[in-house]
Amino acid sequence: MSIKNLSLLFAVFLSGAIVSARESIRLDQGWKFHLGHATDNRQDFNYRSSRLYGKTAENYWTCIRAEFDDSEWEKIDLPHDWAAYLPFKHTTAGEGWSHGYKTLGAFFPENSIGWYRKAFTLPKHKDTDRISLTFDGVFRNCQVWVNNFYLGDNFSGYTSFTYDITDFVNPDGENLVVVRVDASQVEGWFYEGAGIYRHVWLNIYDDVHFKDNGIFVSSVLNEDMTSSDIKVEAEIESWRTYDIKAEVNAVIKSHDGKTIAQSSSEELNLAADGEFKTTLHLGIMNPELWDIESPYRYRLETELISEGKVLDRQEIRFGIKKVVFDKDKGMFLNGRPIKIKGVCCHQDHAGVGSALPDFLQYYRVSLLKEMGANAYRCSHNPPTPELLDACDSLGLLVVDETRLTNSGEEYMKQWESLILRDRNHPCIFMWSIGNEEERLQSLPTGRKIARSMTRRLRQLDPTRPSTYGANNGGETSGINEVVDIRGFNYNLAGADPYHTARPDQPVYGSEVGSTVTTRGIYQADSVMNYLTDYDENFPPWASTAETWWTMASEREWFMGGFVWTGFDYRGEPTPHEWPNINSHFGVMDVCGFPKNVYWYYRSWWTDEDILHIAPHWNHKGQEGKAIKVWVNTNADEVSLIHNGKNLGRKKMPRNGHLTWEVPYKPGWLKAIAFKNGRKFEKVIETTGPAVSISLTPHKSVIMADGQDGTVVNVEVMDKNGLPVPDASNLIRFQIDGDARIIGVGNGDPSCHEPDKCNDGEWQRSLFNGRCQVIILAGNKKEDIVLKATADGLDSSDIIISQQ
Ligand code: GAL
Repeated sequence: MSIKNLSLLFAVFLSGAIVSARESIRLDQGWKFHLGHATDNRQDFNYRSSRLYGKTAENYWTCIRAEFDDSEWEKIDLPHDWAAYLPFKHTTAGEGWSHGYKTLGAFFPENSIGWYRKAFTLPKHKDTDRISLTFDGVFRNCQVWVNNFYLGDNFSGYTSFTYDITDFVNPDGENLVVVRVDASQVEGWFYEGAGIYRHVWLNIYDDVHFKDNGIFVSSVLNEDMTSSDIKVEAEIESWRTYDIKAEVNAVIKSHDGKTIAQSSSEELNLAADGEFKTTLHLGIMNPELWDIESPYRYRLETELISEGKVLDRQEIRFGIKKVVFDKDKGMFLNGRPIKIKGVCCHQDHAGVGSALPDFLQYYRVSLLKEMGANAYRCSHNPPTPELLDACDSLGLLVVDETRLTNSGEEYMKQWESLILRDRNHPCIFMWSIGNEEERLQSLPTGRKIARSMTRRLRQLDPTRPSTYGANNGGETSGINEVVDIRGFNYNLAGADPYHTARPDQPVYGSEVGSTVTTRGIYQADSVMNYLTDYDENFPPWASTAETWWTMASEREWFMGGFVWTGFDYRGEPTPHEWPNINSHFGVMDVCGFPKNVYWYYRSWWTDEDILHIAPHWNHKGQEGKAIKVWVNTNADEVSLIHNGKNLGRKKMPRNGHLTWEVPYKPGWLKAIAFKNGRKFEKVIETTGPAVSISLTPHKSVIMADGQDGTVVNVEVMDKNGLPVPDASNLIRFQIDGDARIIGVGNGDPSCHEPDKCNDGEWQRSLFNGRCQVIILAGNKKEDIVLKATADGLDSSDIIISQQ
């Protein structure tokens, strides 16, 4: 158990008041898991033949009962994606192609139901306290019971949901939560995972409290950004059987803990069993702004106080920013014009499927940031809260998106829950009502649905605009009539006419690029279905990186765009199929290893001196053949030299790249870049065979909290210490100390090696010189040793300090 908001256990005095506030305990460890069955009742623990809904908490013959013996079930910790453990299978039935050829879904009933059980006890609390369980996300269609009591079901694989379990818990004894997850249907056309793949929280709070997601902090900056009005809206709920008097107190603190502003409500009369809302106004002079350059966050501490006692207390990290969408001049952040240098992403990563520990969310966002991205589109579903935390703290703007454009009850509930959960995140700058509803988007029905959804948005968050990913080019009717900001998914030829037809509406590329590349491949391979790693292949609706970014850069009013996608993801291997199991769309592969197009974006999206030569210079057997050499840089001119021979100096076109045809001869290639009277250079060399292994952890100090961890990137080196870029050695891993390997990957879109291995048997082959191991921390403060071995190579080990 780890504790997020520790305040209940210690009754401390704060500002003279006793704090007995709220506690949120992460319920991630110690679950039991077993597959059920979607069509065979007996293998599904008699789920269908148990009279589950006949009486409350009686007559259960299933694994929902406490007495059920789950000793044979697998012990797991959350987050957990059981799809990541399933084998690949080439099938044309069902959703194989789109979902990464995993044996999951309607045609694999034996793998598509998952049962989870978790026993828990409650920490010491008052008899009158309320208790709830929050699931950050379960894929999908799950049902939940606590102590035999059915709580409800959650249809969406992406929304968070909370159940009040106060009436059903044993305050002093053991409790049991059981979850049945049905992943036999899909929600998207991409890998979605299966199971409880995000955190679960046990919440304990006073019977007079702030409602779930009941505090909304918003800010308005004055014209010259020298002062900001802060509005704190707080919703309160009372379960007391008698009236009480209380007040709400809001304190804004700076990053270093200094009080900046403070406000208290008048005395509120909270009637028995009532619900209340109060609004406080605070001001900050010369505020620090939240920005992509310096993502400053204030801390808002909101307390509900009655008779000198703090009944509830919530801490929210919020930011102050000013975004202006100008139909003619593009977008402004805090007074500065900026282009959206964005990426769309799905949520899976190598080794772990969709069950990412928090540190991996930060790792991925930091890779995007390093590339120069300043924005992230949560395509096409509500993200995990920790992804938004990472964007808040690392400074990426976010388009937060709901799964479907639908104003029916279920999807409206999903839309509302997304807005209510996420609206305090400073990173969010637009809300997306959905993506490419092709049959609907240009029709009056689309317009009406969009109207219902944007109406609700204005009620729940009037501070940010609506948008939608439309792939109907210059079409102005339907959903495009209603959304505040027009998103173009591809079809950019329609952008100029659209801008003329709708001069009042700001425009950006909600999805652009979709360039398809395979990392480190220079000759297409129709057996393995690899594509070349140059910015040259794209499906009919899409474009190269260079085409869209040049188009966006040349139009002041076009606000920039979101590349499809930041990372490869499982499923959707356009333009191919099996043996591909993952997409080729990523600027980085599924491990986060950069492809060449990464250097295109980093050249034009950052001010760093970038100089990159592709391909590598190991082309045995190709001697004398012309190799296409691409140079990506943001310099003014580049000279290329091959084994001492100068191949000429070329002018770098803005937002472009340079090419040379070079007859291959082993040796070296040197690029010399000239920029503003300065020179910098890059050399690549033909390497010898691999002799040793190199392990590079992204962090070598981790916390001993069972949650932290590190990503270790693996290469092999020749005798001169150069990484061998085309190596494919099989590397075996062993870990000593209180930490675990939780997944391996290599970015090969056609690799069918398992991402999960048994303990003691972890291994992965390199793909074009690289693979990755993901390590999850244990709880002991001790050094962890990761050892890597491979046939014929010197072994290697690294120490990770766990503190
Ligand atoms: C878009 C779609 C994305 C992805 C992409 C591939 O049309 O919105 O989810 O499928 O195409 O190019």
